[in-house]
Amino acid sequence: MKNELVAEKIFNNIYAAVNGTEISTTERQKLNLRNSSLTYGEINFEAMQAIVSALGETAGKNFYDLGAGTGKAVILAALLANFKKTVGIELLPALYQAAEVARKKLVLQMAQEPRDQTAVNKTTAEVLFIRDNIFWADFSEADVVLVSTTCFDERMMEMLKRRLTMLRPGSLVITVSQSLHSGYYDIIGRFKINLKWGEATVFIHKKIY
Ligand SMILES: C[S@@+](CC[C@H](N)C(=O)[O-])C[C@H]1O[C@@H](n2cnc3c(N)ncnc32)[C@H](O)[C@@H]1O
Repeated sequence: MKNELVAEKIFNNIYAAVNGTEISTTERQKLNLRNSSLTYGEINFEAMQAIVSALGETAGKNFYDLGAGTGKAVILAALLANFKKTVGIELLPALYQAAEVARKKLVLQMAQEPRDQTAVNKTTAEVLFIRDNIFWADFSEADVVLVSTTCFDERMMEMLKRRLTMLRPGSLVITVSQSLHSGYYDIIGRFKINLKWGEATVFIHKKIY
């Protein structure tokens, strides 16, 4: 884990004027999308700290957030851990665009950090956002996947489980709210986090074959 105070300062600067809920609501109204799986909710600094702490060694690994919203988890994964690459896949164009703005701000923030602080928090990860559907996109290079399953119905959980068979054995899948019931995955950890809308359970799954 890197210097958390520096990471939090950078994170707060990047997202000071970003309201993901508002962006998502406006976009869904504009595109006339009523699907409850598009309901917005986001990770916060403390929750992501707890998730990163539970991951073990992250150096050289690829992190993917499936349904990345404004990109908070992807930016925090880059700031708090040592991933080689952190990637967010998001369906809604306006949220994807907000994530891209955040990515550019991260690059600027990194360039502005005093040399000593940059040394501990240098984000060497390649940070990338992709506008795509998580049920079509190829994320087979991921070693760690985060997906908020809070608003997924049974059909979507089944589709997700099928998509997650593309990962290599040993890969970790972190779900928020609902766990995977899959023969390919063992649950190796679980804990509670506090999100804006209430308490949620985080499940850590490991792909066994
Ligand atoms: C609960 S939010 C989580 C946002 C982010 N992962 C975080 O924790 O801050 C779920 C996100 O998934 C997106 N989403 C839902 N279905 C999707 C799909 N099929 N493909 C890509 N993104 C999707 C929604 O638009 C929303 O931004």
